[in-house]
Amino acid sequence: MTQHAQVIVITGCSTGIGLALAVMLAKDQQKRYKVYATMRNLSKRKALDEATPGELDSTLFVRELDVTKDDSVNTFFTNLLKETGRIDVLVNNAGIALCAAFEYIPIETIRHVLETNFYGPVRTIRGVLPKMKEQRSGKIINISSLLGVFGAPFTETYAASKFALEGMSECLVSTLRKFNIYVSTVQFGHVQTDAIKNMELLHKDIDVSKADETTLKLIKANDRARQKTMTGNMCQTADEAAKFIIGIIQEDTPKFRYQPSKGSHDMVATKLKDASGEEQVHSAIQTYFRAARVSSFALSKL
Ligand SMILES: NC(=O)c1ccc[n+]([C@@H]2O[C@H](COP(=O)([O-])OP(=O)(O)OC[C@H]3O[C@@H](n4cnc5c(N)ncnc54)[C@H](OP(=O)(O)O)[C@@H]3O)[C@@H](O)[C@H]2O)c1
Repeated sequence: MTQHAQVIVITGCSTGIGLALAVMLAKDQQKRYKVYATMRNLSKRKALDEATPGELDSTLFVRELDVTKDDSVNTFFTNLLKETGRIDVLVNNAGIALCAAFEYIPIETIRHVLETNFYGPVRTIRGVLPKMKEQRSGKIINISSLLGVFGAPFTETYAASKFALEGMSECLVSTLRKFNIYVSTVQFGHVQTDAIKNMELLHKDIDVSKADETTLKLIKANDRARQKTMTGNMCQTADEAAKFIIGIIQEDTPKFRYQPSKGSHDMVATKLKDASGEEQVHSAIQTYFRAARVSSFALSKL
């Protein structure tokens, strides 16, 4: 059993899942954790400070970390290891969503999403591996998405970033088990956070006014279908999401993939059981385009 308080690093703690997770871990009654709650902009720390008045510099340590910047990541881990001498858990939570017609997204926006959701974890994982390997222990929990396994319409950029995260994780997992380091990915469905609001910030640079009529109809049908997933069996609160992640942290030997909701589990299972990919395509068309009134070949076959 671990005697020392576990050193846990979480990225993206200003809002949403990261904020809920940092607060819950810092308030652990048994004080089992030293939580390094990081965010790219410390002027956004108010919600975290207000939720943890008695924990600051005791079980909670708030630090700056922008996952898109090499210097920021390197400085953070150098200082962390000077301060703690160890790292037990890394939660790669920072991320941005994007849902838009692919051909109208500026390439810089696509790069920015990959820089955050994929290269961010690349940097942080490389930041912790030498120490975790030396310790012969550690857990790396990558907050992925249903869309990291199941590609859905108009999420090409976001899905690409999470598929890349999943692929990297799947390759690392077997090597790292030889060092007693556990890599896990968590495929949330919908979590009630600021993610959609933050995604809208990226939409100011996306102009779909020249899109053809069929694409516009499909975007609308997809938007309506997505609204439904925000209340159904794949929807969770940020606190529920945080509790689920804490469950993984507390496991001695965490599994590789987790789907925290039934909806997410069912869609991932649909994908993984059919190697041809056709069941997944059919399921995506049924789920997202059922409401579309367009006479494309694929839809007329339904
Ligand atoms: N909400 C969902 O439905 C859902 C579903 C599946 C997976 N997820 C995943 O869950 C994770 C958390 O998302 P959320 O739902 O909690 O959304 P959120 O409320 O928008 O939180 C995202 C967090 O990431 C931070 N962030 C963005 N860019 C960053 C950067 N360059 N460096 C460091 N931090 C950065 C944000 O900081 P700022 O405040 O500075 O922007 C914020 O703290 C993401 O990886 C997301 O892809 C969410």
